[in-house]
Amino acid sequence: MCGIVGVLGNHQVSPILVEGLRRLEYRGYDSAGIATVNAGKLERRRALGKLVNLSDALVHEPLAGTSGIGHTRWATHGAANTANAHPHQRGRVAVVHNGIIENYRELRSRLDAHGITPETDTDTETVAMLCDWYLNQGLPPIDAAKATISDLEGAYALCFLFEGEDDLIVAARKGSPLAVGWGEGEMFVGSDALALAPMTSEITYLEEGDIAIVTRAGAAFLDDTQQPVTRTRKTVNLGATATDKAGHRHFMSKEIAEQPDVLANALKYYTTDREGRHLLETGVDFSQFDRIVMVACGTASLACFVSKYWFEQIARIPVEIDIASEFRYREPPLNDRTLTLFVSQSGETADTLAALRYCTGQAGKVVSIVNAMESSIARESDLALPILAGPEIGVASTKAFTCQLAVLASLSLQAARQRGLLDEAGDRELTDQLRRVPGQVTEALAIAPQVQAVSAQLARYEDVLFLGRGALYPLALEGALKLKEISYIHAEGYASGELKHGPIALIDEEMPVVVLTPHDAMFDKTVSNMQEVMARGGKIVMVSDARGLKDGGDGVWQMIEMPKIDGPFAAIAYAVPIQQLAYFTAVEKGTDVDQPRNLAKSVTVE
Ligand code: F6R
Repeated sequence: MCGIVGVLGNHQVSPILVEGLRRLEYRGYDSAGIATVNAGKLERRRALGKLVNLSDALVHEPLAGTSGIGHTRWATHGAANTANAHPHQRGRVAVVHNGIIENYRELRSRLDAHGITPETDTDTETVAMLCDWYLNQGLPPIDAAKATISDLEGAYALCFLFEGEDDLIVAARKGSPLAVGWGEGEMFVGSDALALAPMTSEITYLEEGDIAIVTRAGAAFLDDTQQPVTRTRKTVNLGATATDKAGHRHFMSKEIAEQPDVLANALKYYTTDREGRHLLETGVDFSQFDRIVMVACGTASLACFVSKYWFEQIARIPVEIDIASEFRYREPPLNDRTLTLFVSQSGETADTLAALRYCTGQAGKVVSIVNAMESSIARESDLALPILAGPEIGVASTKAFTCQLAVLASLSLQAARQRGLLDEAGDRELTDQLRRVPGQVTEALAIAPQVQAVSAQLARYEDVLFLGRGALYPLALEGALKLKEISYIHAEGYASGELKHGPIALIDEEMPVVVLTPHDAMFDKTVSNMQEVMARGGKIVMVSDARGLKDGGDGVWQMIEMPKIDGPFAAIAYAVPIQQLAYFTAVEKGTDVDQPRNLAKSVTVE
């Protein structure tokens, strides 16, 4: 949510800043802007909307300079317009910011008393106003930035650039991620290592409350008490190609297609081998806990919901799931027999992080399941487990979701083992079923033409329902979320058996109903629910295997034939047709698949 980049370079920095922002655009695309120090003078260019508008503006009005900062915005305070676009400049300082300055009103009144008034609606401008005021009091730039940072409350990743200072960026982190990148006589700052990947793989992540004083010679770090501190430098392995579409039209399609590989990788990492040995010692002893509390947001919370079925049925351990924005204020009771699990692709989701902090010290163990292992959520957990999905750029989560499911499924088997609930044969059977998932996902990908044909129909409707039972019920919720997110079609998910308790009133021929139903123990019951829909003129899109379509498909409007999948983990492969249904429907409607309106990939504000 908002991307930041800073460069102290050897060459003109505008193109480098724009390339960095391109790799961060998934964090927000309401506006973009850059500022440079050009012959000692601060100058900036900003443009409303996507980064391409800024690139166009730079063709007509290039910006020279070998040091600069850039920003791509997801609007919080103040409408998405050019005036509110970052960098914000007041007097001799320009600032880019990710986060929210909570005390900006109070700071504004303080500055108002000195006759300094805002020119924009943003909280960020207040940071620039305050820093410029400190400069005008005679403080040198570094001290002015430090004094400003001391006055701030809230969450921020910040970069300061100063007039007359061609070799200085001051960066600060509290609640929002920030990394310093090391080059040869060049230095970089970025919201994440991905932004800096083409420039450098040598990264230092700032800790909470850190300030970095960056010059071309290197970076000096101050801790949250502004005392000098040493921070380690790491080599990260993100190739410059990590954000390429690899021939796909959209990142989402690339990421859907990557699922067999990333799932195979994740499952190899987490499942036991033929001899029953653990390939990975996860460090969680499920026999120590009476219950699991899982907390996440959006798609990640639906992964938790799917896995509730596995943990409860296979490992017989009670699971509570909650969305983080509710959990954090609910003050739920916890004790040392409670295992808390936080699931987050980005590892930076503000509500999930706050919920994690609530649990720290109260729960028996705080475990996170993340894609970004350097993220705040990973760092603040007792134990962080990677989902190994690789960078996910499309705003709609796909491969991260199925990798979250794969890790949670593996953990449910580990829990069952540790709780003495799996004999050798049962363990082998379930582990084998889990290992078959990447192959099933490959087969599910092969039915894309069927899904595309159905999507061409769905694109004409304004409302769609998704139904499922058991672990396929939360998947129905995910199907609805994915469809509304990228195609802007209103969609809802329900448990099949719940339909007749209210939502059935909505059924008519204008609301297609997508039913996810493998031929399993619940199949007949779901078919009865389908009949109830069809009896009222409803149009069914039935997603099932060959036997299911044969036994229950009479009278349905559309069919999608999935491979035959035995066992409890069918939800993972069934995620593929719902992702593709959303994808092809969005493509049919011509919406912006990778950057749907109003959304951002990493939600670092409440
Ligand atoms: C939907 C989607 C979001 C995220 C949610 C949590 O496709 O991607 O619902 O799942 O914002 O994000 P993370 O997993 O980064 O905490």
